[in-house]
Parts: sequence; structure tokens; C-alpha cells
Amino acid sequence: MRRIALAGFLLAAANIHAYAESLDEHTYANYVDKDGNISIPVDVRKTWSHLGSWVVGDKQAPGYGFHDVYTQPEVVDIYRKTSEFPDGAVLVKEIRKVEEGSQTTGLAQWAGDVTVWFVMVKDRKERFKGNGNWAEGWGWALYEAKDPNTNVSKGFQVTCLGCHIPAKETGWVFTKGYPTLIKTVP
Ligand code: HEC
Repeated sequence: MRRIALAGFLLAAANIHAYAESLDEHTYANYVDKDGNISIPVDVRKTWSHLGSWVVGDKQAPGYGFHDVYTQPEVVDIYRKTSEFPDGAVLVKEIRKVEEGSQTTGLAQWAGDVTVWFVMVKDRKERFKGNGNWAEGWGWALYEAKDPNTNVSKGFQVTCLGCHIPAKETGWVFTKGYPTLIKTVP
């Protein structure tokens, strides 16, 4: 019995190691091509971890909608131990339309169709120097629902930097909105 427990422990330890090692390989084989072009990971709602949600309820605001943020489950494990995003971490922010209507619970808002996806890919090796979509330790991309294969960002400096400055001290990520990273919800 004890031997089985030990074997299980060793296997678990080996798995954690293999997991951490393969995260970057997996990301750079599946979501980034050799020229640094980023693609949207598919169906993250089903298999990735939900980090948190934002709601911008002002119809006039640029970010009007539901913002749901996802990452790979391994990233949550590693971040909880190190407080850092590992190489190959991918953050997907999906923005959905606000639907509103009366429900049996009361007047409710809920998330409708996707409008855009924002994607960030952690790069600790400065892989794509000189590529405008790679800066400050991340790859940066933006896709519209009508054409999910085309990154419509004009590059980090033009499209992303101005708005992300408030998050510079936390690695360019608005971590305060992501309870999954910092505590275990019962
Ligand atoms: C209008 C301002 C604005 C612009 C432009 C913008 N962001 Fe953000 N982004 C934010 C804010 C604020 C948050 C967190 C709160 C929210 O979503 O309302 C955020 C969150 C994110 C997240 C979720 C992880 C995190 O950092 O908290 C990703 C991924 C992201 N942005 C990627 C991008 C990329 C890539 C670009 C450029 C193509 C970009 N953003 C441009 C303001 C902006």
C-alpha cells in the first residue's frame, strides 16, 4: 500500500515537471508560428481556467460588454506558487455583447455573441525582436468575431500600450480582476 502511494507521488511529481516544461513548447507549436504570428486558441471556455470577468456597463464606453479572461490551467498552478506568468502562458480576453431582459429572477443582463478577442502570449526569451506585436515580455493580438483568423492590432505601441500602462507594475496584466490566480475558492 505504501509503495503504491509512493509511486503515485513520484508520478504526480514527474507530471508537474513535464507539464511546466511543455507549456512553452505547446504554446509556441500551436498558437504562434515561426514569424511570431499569433492565433486564437480554440474553445478555451471548455478546457481552460476562467481567471475572472469584467463588465463595462456604459453603452458609450469603448469596452462596453462582458469581458471574460481565460488561461491554461497549468498557468494557474504555476502563478499561485511563483506569482509570475510562465513562458508560454496565454491570456485570452473574450468580449461579448450585453443582452438584457426580464427573467424570473428580475431584470437581468447576460453575455451574448462574441465581438472581439484580445490575446497575450508570455515570451520570456525575446523570440521576435523587431516584430511590433511582441513587446514587454508578451505577444499582443486582437481579433474580431467576423474574421477570427486576422490579427487587426496595429502593434503593441499603437493599439495596446496606452491602455495597459495602469497594469505595468503587475506585469502588464490587470491581476486584481483575477481571483483564480490568488486564492482557492472553496
Ligand atoms: C481601451 C483600452 C484598452 C486597449 C486599447 C487594450 N486594452 Fe487590454 N485591457 C484593458 C483593460 C482595462 C483590461 C482589464 C479590464 C477590462 O477588461 O475592462 C484589459 C485586459 C486585457 C487582457 C486580459 C489580461 C489582462 O491584461 O488583464 C488581455 C489579454 C488584453 N487586455 C490584451 C490586449 C491587447 C493584445 C491589446 C492590443 C491589441 C489591448 N489589450 C488593448 C484595456 C485595454
